[in-house]
Amino acid sequence: AKPIRVALLGCGTVGAQIVRLLTEQAHELAARVGAPVELAGIAVRRPNKHRDVPAELLTTDAAALVTAPDVDVVVEVIGGIEPTRTWLLDALRSGKSVVTANKALLAEHAGELFSAADAAGVDLYFEAAVAGAIPLLRPLRESLAGDRITRVMGIVNGTTNFILSAMDETGAGYAETLEEAARLGYAEADPTADVDGYDAASKAAILASLAFHTRVTAGDVYREGISAVTPSDVAAARVLGRTIKLLAICERVGGDGGESVAVRVHPAMIPRNHPLAGVGGAFNAVFVEAEAAGQLMFYGQGAGGAPTASAVLGDLVAVARNLVVGGRGPRESAYADLAVRPIAQA
Ligand code: HSE
Repeated sequence: AKPIRVALLGCGTVGAQIVRLLTEQAHELAARVGAPVELAGIAVRRPNKHRDVPAELLTTDAAALVTAPDVDVVVEVIGGIEPTRTWLLDALRSGKSVVTANKALLAEHAGELFSAADAAGVDLYFEAAVAGAIPLLRPLRESLAGDRITRVMGIVNGTTNFILSAMDETGAGYAETLEEAARLGYAEADPTADVDGYDAASKAAILASLAFHTRVTAGDVYREGISAVTPSDVAAARVLGRTIKLLAICERVGGDGGESVAVRVHPAMIPRNHPLAGVGGAFNAVFVEAEAAGQLMFYGQGAGGAPTASAVLGDLVAVARNLVVGGRGPRESAYADLAVRPIAQA
């Protein structure tokens, strides 16, 4: 079959792992998709920094790459709002399916991106945007689409969980632990997005939008980070049989026709025997409560190059299969129930 041609935007911690997996697993992926999956090009800022990828694939012209006639799918792991938003909208409008890990962009502009995808009849997948390797968005969008979700709650930022876990276990300092998280590829390029809760707030907005079939943006999310958490807070929590975790909580509130969605991110003291208390390192864990399904728990590596690349590759296989057989994944109409409005609530 005709190869599926992929444009990759970004070749950092996650992008490099995507290139590696695409190369190492080329045969398996081709068998699963029903056609070879090939890299058409990789857009980077500084080509001479990427000596381990084939030089002929590298380009600094992302705008040209995303609309190139021989590209079928655009995979975005650059991050940031602009110019990434423009590139992805251009890609969708020129009929390319898009796979993105960009939580900040989705938490601001999901509506616009979905409309562009629907208008062009192409796919928009973003499993890697929330909770790294953990299959979480697909279950919310697809497996639980027949149920009524009432609550989504958990740990969705690996960097802050890594820091809080280290402070709890060893009393380690905040700054040195943050450096270690950055070195391991967990932290964002600008780690204030992690420690001030912006990263978790973006993820909470995406989770709430999918879980409640509405549109929640990052600005609708009540947000507190962990920079005010001191070693004495951690010690006090310990005395109380508790530990401190940064939680994202999305829930339906109200009722009798006036139903809304409250979404918040803040540090919380939780009992040490609570399942979330044992989530260490850069792991994430998310509870989902649905009326018929009851309680579900999702757990795994929430950050880092290879785990995040795993989620991107899963999306790429899904999108590529759809291109081969002519189907499409979930679309914007899944978010049409805008009667459920977000409210800012602490
Ligand atoms: N900086 C993020 C985290 C990466 O620490 O969870 C994964 O989105």
